[in-house]
Amino acid sequence: MSILIKGGTVVTADLSYRADVYCNDGIIQAIGDNLDVPTNCEVVDAGDLLVMPGGIDPHTHMQLPFMGTVASEDFYTGTAAGCAGGTTSIIDFVIPNPQQPIMDAYHQWMEWAQKSAADYSFHVAITWWDESVYKDMGTLVQDHGVNSFKHFMAYKNAIMCEDETLINSFSRCLELGAMPTVHAENGDLVYHLQKQILEQGIRGPEGHPLSRPAEVEGEAANRAIRIAQALNVPIYCVHVSCEESLQAITRARNEGQRVYGEVLTGHLELDDSVYRNQDFEFAAAHVMSPPFRPKKHQDALWKGLQSGNLQTTATDHCCFCADQKAAGKDDFTLIPNGTAGIEDRMSIMWDAGVNSGKLTPNEFVAVTSTNAAKIFNIYPRKGSITVGADADIVLWDPSGSRTISSSTHHQNVDFNIFEGRTVKGIAVHTLSQGKLVWTNGDLRAVKGAGKYIKRPAFNSAFDAVKKQAEVHAPTAVKRG
Ligand code: URP
Ligand code: ZN
Ligand code: ZN
Repeated sequence: MSILIKGGTVVTADLSYRADVYCNDGIIQAIGDNLDVPTNCEVVDAGDLLVMPGGIDPHTHMQLPFMGTVASEDFYTGTAAGCAGGTTSIIDFVIPNPQQPIMDAYHQWMEWAQKSAADYSFHVAITWWDESVYKDMGTLVQDHGVNSFKHFMAYKNAIMCEDETLINSFSRCLELGAMPTVHAENGDLVYHLQKQILEQGIRGPEGHPLSRPAEVEGEAANRAIRIAQALNVPIYCVHVSCEESLQAITRARNEGQRVYGEVLTGHLELDDSVYRNQDFEFAAAHVMSPPFRPKKHQDALWKGLQSGNLQTTATDHCCFCADQKAAGKDDFTLIPNGTAGIEDRMSIMWDAGVNSGKLTPNEFVAVTSTNAAKIFNIYPRKGSITVGADADIVLWDPSGSRTISSSTHHQNVDFNIFEGRTVKGIAVHTLSQGKLVWTNGDLRAVKGAGKYIKRPAFNSAFDAVKKQAEVHAPTAVKRG
């Protein structure tokens, strides 16, 4: 199965240049002019289009069992919707219940993910601790290609990690060359504020952001980063939503600490006024954690992305329909947390980022694809247009436009947080493993075609951190 992308402009995180791209067997085989290709090769005219690495969404939750229900989007519908928007890989999360053997959870998620239409990988959450977790982390890294572990500092009485678990797990990550990642919100504080707000008689979705102010996130981000600093381990903060946690990341980076930050398209583009909407369904549909913030945080987050203190963009795609959100009709703490976005991330980032001049097209590629591939150690297989890379490619029309709506999107959810927004910059064709899975509005994603992507343990970033630690290692004082 071979395909020639002809006449386009290749745009990578480093360069933009005119070239044809020839793919065969799911791999980019040649890049250049006048390529020697088989006569039966399918040709895609890339005329005025940009040829970019397919998007990587490093934060999704397909069919996640959460807050008494299950996310409505499964691995097939979710990855297919991603293809329609130019995203060709996801990194989802295995989330064991506390006390559940983490290998059992990993196998369960692997089974669910068999129906993926595009490539996928897993972060694994550490939700509890004992010797078996220590051992299984090793098995996951060494035998199953997991190189990142997630820690929820929120969701008390469910999947929240105490500091002791953070410390144990971060230390184990360092031994293994795996990246610890955190959902940074102080879960005890959220729990306290939730009770206080309910006692004040606030029961609607407007209580959600009140119970999770920016300080809650800033405190947890700073704590996690300081723990990582003390243990000399790199750290990645997921869904950075506010100035306070961005400041913690920026300070640490300025001090030479290896800290990475992810931002969601929703947090960049939406503000907290959505929670004060009179319509419960509308307000509840926006309930996610951390919540959307007052506008000043959006400006800060964009600057964080522009300055390089935030490196990746994601969606935290976690879909719940109106009937599921209704569980919290009389108590905002029971509204399942999560919003959708995998189909729209690339267009929103282009429209809000490139069209406004905040990002160059090359920076767009970096923050939607390449940086995630580098941080999670699958570069240049993913996130690049180079010979030998996976042929996950999006052909992008910077002047095409579409209006986002839940009535036309491919996501399996009845609401779209970007409803009615017209975006300029769209995926015209998407190739996954060298096959057209989206072409001129025709979604051809195939259930089960996605492959599991193993991510090897890190060496260079960890070696660098270890070397730095050795230089500053304490020495015992000789007495007497
Ligand atoms: O509200 C959210 N973000 N739901 C998914 C779970 C998480 O915290 O990432
Ligand atoms: Zn989270
Ligand atoms: Zn999440």
